[in-house]
Amino acid sequence: MKGVILAGGDGTRLHPLTLVTNKHLLPVYNKPIIYYAIEKLVEAGIDRIMLVTSPRQVEHFVNLLGSGQNFISKNNGKQIQIVYGIQNGPSGIAEGLWIAKDYIGNDNCVLYLGDNILEDDIGEHIANFKEGATVFLKAVKDPHRFGVAAVNATGHVLKIEEKPKSPKSNLAVTGVYIYDNSVFRKMVGQPVSERGEYEITYINNKYIEEGKLKSVLLKKAWFDAGTPDSLIEAGNFMKNKFLES
Ligand code: G1P
Repeated sequence: MKGVILAGGDGTRLHPLTLVTNKHLLPVYNKPIIYYAIEKLVEAGIDRIMLVTSPRQVEHFVNLLGSGQNFISKNNGKQIQIVYGIQNGPSGIAEGLWIAKDYIGNDNCVLYLGDNILEDDIGEHIANFKEGATVFLKAVKDPHRFGVAAVNATGHVLKIEEKPKSPKSNLAVTGVYIYDNSVFRKMVGQPVSERGEYEITYINNKYIEEGKLKSVLLKKAWFDAGTPDSLIEAGNFMKNKFLES
């Protein structure tokens, strides 16, 4: 299994913090946001990662992360591998993943939106993954900001709606997704959404139509550090966690 971390975007909700640098390089307590994403994948046993970002900011990531020398594989004690992909514009998460298509080859992949910070260990879900897709859900107070899962009485996901005005549940689809290799076939002919993006929600709904989407409810904390409030909330949380350890 390979990893793809998306770390592009203009971070407009964080202006002026993001006028000269990328959102994922801002601090959450004592580390840049992107460290949490990489460490989460490494903890889950992922050793090969493509980081997809914008041409304007790729150099910042290369300066910080290099080829991955600061992250050590759980599998062999050696450094992990980080390579870079370029996404020219903000055309959506599915397009970001498409850029990693050749790097993924015939493998399965875990797609990780770089501003997501989660406390749960996802290692067992990666280790046990066989086919289809796995999404991670979290109950939130403001579901309209996210992809939202409509579920039946037994918690089975019936449909995912992207930033619905009237959410059918309080279950946000977090920015961590495990996919089998059919994910790339599902993108062929994909239409752009009203906001002009290739939505990952479209792809997840394709898996639902095939009966191949599994959902996991996260038990611990989750942050999408894309707003000033969530950034400071995540920072305070990590500070307390750090001081307790
Ligand atoms: C994206 C996805 C959304 C998901 C969210 C999680 O939204 O489109 O479905 O719930 O990430 O962070 P964005 O943050 O790009 O608006």
